Amino acid sequence: MNLKKYVDLLENSGVVGFPTETVYGLAARIDRPAGIENIFTTKERPFFDPLIVHVASIEQAKSLTTSWTVATEVLAQSFWPGPLTLVLPKTTAVNSMITSGLETVGVRQPKHPLALQLISEVGVPLAAPSANKFGRTSPTTAEHVRGEFGNKVEVLDGGPCPVGIESTVLSVAQNGEDVRLQVLRPGAITPPMLRAALEQRGLRVLFEKTKEARLAPGQMKHHYMPEIPLILSSSDLMTSSEVTDEANQKLKNLPDVVEGVRLRKPAGLLTKAALLQLSEDPTLAARELYSQLREASQGNADHLICFLKRSQIGDEWSGVLDRLKKAASLILPEDFAAKI
Ligand code: TXA
Ligand code: MG
Repeated sequence: MNLKKYVDLLENSGVVGFPTETVYGLAARIDRPAGIENIFTTKERPFFDPLIVHVASIEQAKSLTTSWTVATEVLAQSFWPGPLTLVLPKTTAVNSMITSGLETVGVRQPKHPLALQLISEVGVPLAAPSANKFGRTSPTTAEHVRGEFGNKVEVLDGGPCPVGIESTVLSVAQNGEDVRLQVLRPGAITPPMLRAALEQRGLRVLFEKTKEARLAPGQMKHHYMPEIPLILSSSDLMTSSEVTDEANQKLKNLPDVVEGVRLRKPAGLLTKAALLQLSEDPTLAARELYSQLREASQGNADHLICFLKRSQIGDEWSGVLDRLKKAASLILPEDFAAKI
């Protein structure tokens, strides 16, 4: 495809919506501070939330970091191009606006052929968050991006995103043969996959719990919210009328604005539910999740209910469950949240 129009826009400090295998991104060149600022203003995103830098090759990734260890090499060789973001110590080539003042930068090589072509033709890495207004569900089609920004943003259409949820964000520290990993955001690349790749190369792996707010500044609790309240529950533990009764009691006590994002709540009782039906296959469930959330919010329902089954819990589901938990206004019964 001829990408000249998009390459020129980026050259002139503009932003461009572009496809990746996970979700659509809103890109600017890392060497155009006005372009980076443009991302934040277009998204209405606070400056404390760092952006991911997208590269076309491992060579390009190395130019962004002061420390490329054996563990980093193994992970990049195993999972790039693909949905894994590595958080690495940054060089001065990375503007601190991109990293929100952090000394580290999140880097990934996306797998979508048009993303790789765009970054290669530009010749410079592209900083890009997901192409949605701050706090809202990420776009998985070009149509979704146009729905967010109208004609303010040019979008390179690469069809629907096959993965469907954002990349796994991973912090890596290596000391000799010991590698400490922290999953800052779960995604399609799961801890067992990361462990297997590193152990196969003779490294020892230790997973550490995330010290949330500090290490993953963008990981706010109520990210990814649909416009109407989503209630997450378990079909093994509650019936749908029990969910509606309890939600009616609890929803009215919830604030209308959560972490800066407005929620459309019914004035009286909940009347019309839309059911969010997830595939039994975690890969398909992830692919469809954000489209389903968007479509369900656009109908005439005043709330969404998603019933999880026991078979939809576990490592392969961690990315989908993380997004559902963040999207949910209520999780019922209350102690179910701790089990997923
Ligand atoms: O799949 C994806 O990762 C998509 C596509 C477009 O690549 N991008 C994406 O970007 O989801 P965004 O901005 O919506 O999420 C990036 C998140 C930040 O909110 C933050 O949690 C984490 O990545 N992150 C980025 N840089 C970081 C850093 N230096 N330290 C810790 N976390 C970082
Ligand atoms: Mg995002």
